[in-house]
Amino acid sequence: MKIELFDTASKALNVNFTNKVVVVIDVLRATSVITTAFANGAKEIYPFMGVEETFEMAKKIDGSLLAGERGGIKIDGFDLGNSPLDFTKEKIFNKTICMTTSNGTRAIENSKTADVIYICSFLNVSSVAKKLLNEDRDIAIICSGTNDEFSLDDSLCAGILLNKLKSKAKLNDFSLSMAKMAQFMPDIKKVLEGTKHYEYLKSLGFTKDLEYCITPDIIDVVPYYKNSKIILDNDT
Ligand code: MLT
Repeated sequence: MKIELFDTASKALNVNFTNKVVVVIDVLRATSVITTAFANGAKEIYPFMGVEETFEMAKKIDGSLLAGERGGIKIDGFDLGNSPLDFTKEKIFNKTICMTTSNGTRAIENSKTADVIYICSFLNVSSVAKKLLNEDRDIAIICSGTNDEFSLDDSLCAGILLNKLKSKAKLNDFSLSMAKMAQFMPDIKKVLEGTKHYEYLKSLGFTKDLEYCITPDIIDVVPYYKNSKIILDNDT
């Protein structure tokens, strides 16, 4: 098993991921939202880069919901923002969701050459690791980052994942540094306090989202992207 780690969505642009498994991480908050949506029974999620194309797709699917943010705030005319706590069973069970976010859905878009893209967050990191260990294939982990900048939340989650995979792969110094940070600084909240996107979401009042998104392994599903949409792998 070979593992590559990308620290922003833009670094994955134009990379050929053929024959690889990609793992996309955007813990604050896109991949936490997607993981939660499937844990609560969403049928499928179509991810998009742009707002217009998201509207267009939703028009084609009866009863679908629009979800997403710009600058962390719900987009005008959308049903849901990007707050995982809003993706309750009551709102999204058996629903198709058309979604666009600033960084997370862009990371998915930039990874589309992969055979399959797994959706990872702190919430389901052990389930993702279990799946990757079983499959034993070459992996690219894409940390979405924030607006093309390194974001510690995503890389810390990658570090936790890497620690669970490292018996099967030789890590380069970047991957090893994230794995060691996760190993020796296990208090996620303490590590993330003061970081840019964490503090930004706090300033918008999303404190409950932050507490939820940094809770490891409360969800045992691995959503995956294939053929234009994200669905749930029922084998997890
Ligand atoms: C993103 O995709 O950039 C994020 O999920 C933004 C957010 O925190 O809502």
